[in-house]
Amino acid sequence: MACGGEELGGVDPWVGGPNRVDRVDPNRAPLQSALGWLGRPGVTAYWGLMGVAKLKPGETLVVSAASGAVGQLVGQIAKIQGARVVGIAGGEAKCDFCREIGFDSMVDYRAETDLDAAVARECPDGIDAFWDNTAGAMHDAAMKILNTGARVVICGTIALSGSLDMPDMGERFLRQILVARATVQGFLVFDWWDKREEALDALAGWHKDGQLTIREDVVVGIDAMPEAFLRLMHGTNFGKQLVRIV
Ligand SMILES: NC(=O)c1ccc[n+]([C@@H]2O[C@H](COP(=O)([O-])OP(=O)(O)OC[C@H]3O[C@@H](n4cnc5c(N)ncnc54)[C@H](OP(=O)(O)O)[C@@H]3O)[C@@H](O)[C@H]2O)c1
Repeated sequence: MACGGEELGGVDPWVGGPNRVDRVDPNRAPLQSALGWLGRPGVTAYWGLMGVAKLKPGETLVVSAASGAVGQLVGQIAKIQGARVVGIAGGEAKCDFCREIGFDSMVDYRAETDLDAAVARECPDGIDAFWDNTAGAMHDAAMKILNTGARVVICGTIALSGSLDMPDMGERFLRQILVARATVQGFLVFDWWDKREEALDALAGWHKDGQLTIREDVVVGIDAMPEAFLRLMHGTNFGKQLVRIV
């Protein structure tokens, strides 16, 4: 995904990739936000919560890859909706950041020896909604303690990146899903793209009111492109990974 236009004078700002290009309203926020919180990650977090998770105040939401572009928004929007938010992230710095932006509690999966126990410890009343960005061990830990009527939003499968064409081997949760009468729904932002303006208006409003804090991970120069790619592959990026080339 790329964005541009502002610096060219006379060219409408745009954001796009190989399959589509969208106009960007430059009055909402700086142009680069169209790649992050005012772009796909923002629309994903907004409609995944409003359209699928449908949180009620006081419910417990767990989000994996909590410090990422999507996760940090999911946590903050869920707080605005009155939920109790528990994040899972790797390392002290990422967990500290999530606490600073309002997460109630964090699990540092790199520091814990028993992830199931750690997630259960931070969710003493179980999980009403689970936002999964990763699959793998974080998914397994959350699925074990779903409450009755829980909603599971399958947004990403980062932990499976190296094996997308293989069966996802691991624990199975049909009994938990049955007993909890839980809903597990795959989410694709493009199914909600026609409704993106509503999301962008809400996000811009919350940001203006100081209710959203955004962290981006910006490297500078075309030469830094491989480094940015490796950061994504290793999960060392901290927020939306961007490369500024002009
Ligand atoms: N379904 C949709 O429509 C939709 C839309 C947008 C994004 N997504 C998906 O949602 C997920 C999150 O996106 P994002 O933009 O928030 O990503 P991001 O900003 O790049 O954050 C990704 C984070 O995932 C964590 N992670 C956990 N396990 C990892 C692993 N094995 N390899 C690499 N990173 C790992 C890393 O943080 P830690 O250090 O905490 O592990 C990393 O910083 C991605 O899977 C993305 O493809 C889906």
